[in-house]
Amino acid sequence: MKKFIFCALFVTLIQNNCALNVSSNCGVMSDSFGLIQGGLLSGKNQFPWLTNIFTKQTLAYIFAGSGSLISHHYVLCAANSVAYENYLENGQLNPERNYRPLSGKSIKLILGSEHYKGNNEPDVTIVEVVQKVILHPNLKGTKPRIANIALLKIKRPITFSDSVKPVCIWNLNDNQMSNHNNMIMYSVGHGIDETGSISFLRKHAIMTIQKDEVCKRFYRNFSTDSGFFCARGNGMATACRHDKVLYVKIDGYWFLRGMSSMFKRFQNGTCSLNAPVLYEDIEPYSSWINSNSVF
Ligand SMILES: *[C@@H]1O[C@H](CO)[C@@H](O)[C@H](O)[C@H]1NC(C)=O
Ligand SMILES: *[C@@H]1O[C@H](CO)[C@@H](O)[C@H](O)[C@H]1NC(C)=O
Ligand SMILES: *[C@@H]1O[C@H](CO)[C@@H](O)[C@H](O)[C@H]1NC(C)=O
Repeated sequence: MKKFIFCALFVTLIQNNCALNVSSNCGVMSDSFGLIQGGLLSGKNQFPWLTNIFTKQTLAYIFAGSGSLISHHYVLCAANSVAYENYLENGQLNPERNYRPLSGKSIKLILGSEHYKGNNEPDVTIVEVVQKVILHPNLKGTKPRIANIALLKIKRPITFSDSVKPVCIWNLNDNQMSNHNNMIMYSVGHGIDETGSISFLRKHAIMTIQKDEVCKRFYRNFSTDSGFFCARGNGMATACRHDKVLYVKIDGYWFLRGMSSMFKRFQNGTCSLNAPVLYEDIEPYSSWINSNSVF
């Protein structure tokens, strides 16, 4: 019954929001074949909103995780990919301002590529400089970070193609994620693999929403009304560090639903296949995202 209500609400959502805002035609993937369980390779046209973020360090660009293209001019990502923790001399986070954004000049984006750097691939979109980095005003803390989201504004409009398209943002207030216990979502990206290094090629893993009790067992700071939820891999593959995004498909449309927050990692940097991953729910931020991503 719950499921029926959920779907009924969803039709309204699509008509009122996503599909109405289809100047950007969000959440439609031309190639959703071959999306099967496991830590599997994704094709070039699968999850075409996946955006690889690089930040300039002294000598080179370093991979900073994945974001999601949401329109011609905006990429949504985890704030900690594009901001630094603002510590005081006493080792505490500056209470006035826990984070500071990086300069857009030091942020490079690569879209539409299978290899995380887009090495020699045709039709790869590269954004050399981001015009503006907008951190959510409530961004704070660590372990977990709260409101860990940022918008990257891109000056020259991104051209959409089969391999570059925007995703929809989940904006239905369906509250408790645990109502969706066992719902299936997709983690996509170039996160740390079973060898402990970045996956050069785009991969996805199927993640299943867990009950709050399960989440609590692994993440002490988790509270049920906190805007966080847990999802777990299938025992053979899981999201790991740098796998930021969690997508879900409803009625043919793909939505960004969560952003990874914490992982259970071993000393060698790999993630436990049995532990769930803590995600921050995107829904509470959807109106901020909407009102701050107007070109
Ligand atoms: C469509 O998007 C615009 C800008 O992103 C937003 O202001 C508007 O509320 C959205 N429309 C609906 C019906 O949600
Ligand atoms: C819980 O949160 C506190 C305060 O933010 C932090 O110091 C601590 O490390 C967190 N504990 C865990 C297990 O993440
Ligand atoms: C990393 O550590 C875990 C737990 O000790 C172990 O199961 C796994 O095989 C290790 N992986 C690598 C690549 O060393």
